[in-house]
Amino acid sequence: MSDQKTIVIAGASGAIGQALVLGCLERYPGSSIHALQRHSGTSQANHNVKHHSVDYLNEEDLAGVAKLVGEIDIMIVAVGTLHDNGSAQPEKAIRALSAEQMQRLYTVNTIIPGLLIKHFSPFMNRDRRSVLAALSARVGSISDNALGGWYSYRCSKAALNMLIKTASIEVTRKNPSAIVIGLHPGTVESSLSKPFLGNVPSASLLSPDQSAKRLLDVLDGVEAQQSGSLLAYDGREIAP
Ligand SMILES: NC(=O)c1ccc[n+]([C@@H]2O[C@H](COP(=O)([O-])OP(=O)(O)OC[C@H]3O[C@@H](n4cnc5c(N)ncnc54)[C@H](OP(=O)(O)O)[C@@H]3O)[C@@H](O)[C@H]2O)c1
Repeated sequence: MSDQKTIVIAGASGAIGQALVLGCLERYPGSSIHALQRHSGTSQANHNVKHHSVDYLNEEDLAGVAKLVGEIDIMIVAVGTLHDNGSAQPEKAIRALSAEQMQRLYTVNTIIPGLLIKHFSPFMNRDRRSVLAALSARVGSISDNALGGWYSYRCSKAALNMLIKTASIEVTRKNPSAIVIGLHPGTVESSLSKPFLGNVPSASLLSPDQSAKRLLDVLDGVEAQQSGSLLAYDGREIAP
């Protein structure tokens, strides 16, 4: 891929999203980076980064931004949630399950990425390789689930993985240059992971910058036949 690209990062206000914006600035000098976030707020000042405040559940809003951005080389969806910093913590047992929490996590982790893929995938570059990735999680793998718990998060990410697989088939059929994948960023220091890092050995913990760099390495190396799969930050495929 040439160095000058059009790149979209959704969830650009998050720890990994911010690091991806900075990582892209460094890796692809001169590229146009479109940083999408739900609130206007603190943002990196750089003339190559254009910030868009987006209501991710408003399809007119999404369609408008997608049209404005135009042809895309790389898009990464880094939106996601696990807890609400209050009472809505990941469920340790099925008795903690609630419709409200499940719906909230599905909305953020599955429906928002789905709507973003719906509106932005038609703009993926047809003349050279283009990649659309959504940050999922290893815990969304059914075969990898040895511990249980975290019902809503696991289910919403498993559903996201199916969405990615299904979209990859359609998108690649219409545009053979396009690759659609899920990415597991590792265990990364962020407000999302913070309450659960107590038992994580420091050697297994990534900073947002480290994770973003590894994820961009994966995107640089991903091949057409891997479209639809979930890849970890080390490039290894995670079984569904
Ligand atoms: N950190 C990890 O260890 C880890 C591990 C596996 C997977 N992941 C995945 O990586 C992605 C990024 O996570 P992160 O660690 O960077 O978390 P983070 O710092 O909390 O960022 C989360 C992002 O999602 C947005 N978001 C949250 N709730 C939203 C809502 N209701 N509507 C719209 N946007 C919303 C946030 O926007 P605001 O800034 O406006 O709140 C922020 O941009 C997530 O999909 C997460 O599941 C993370």
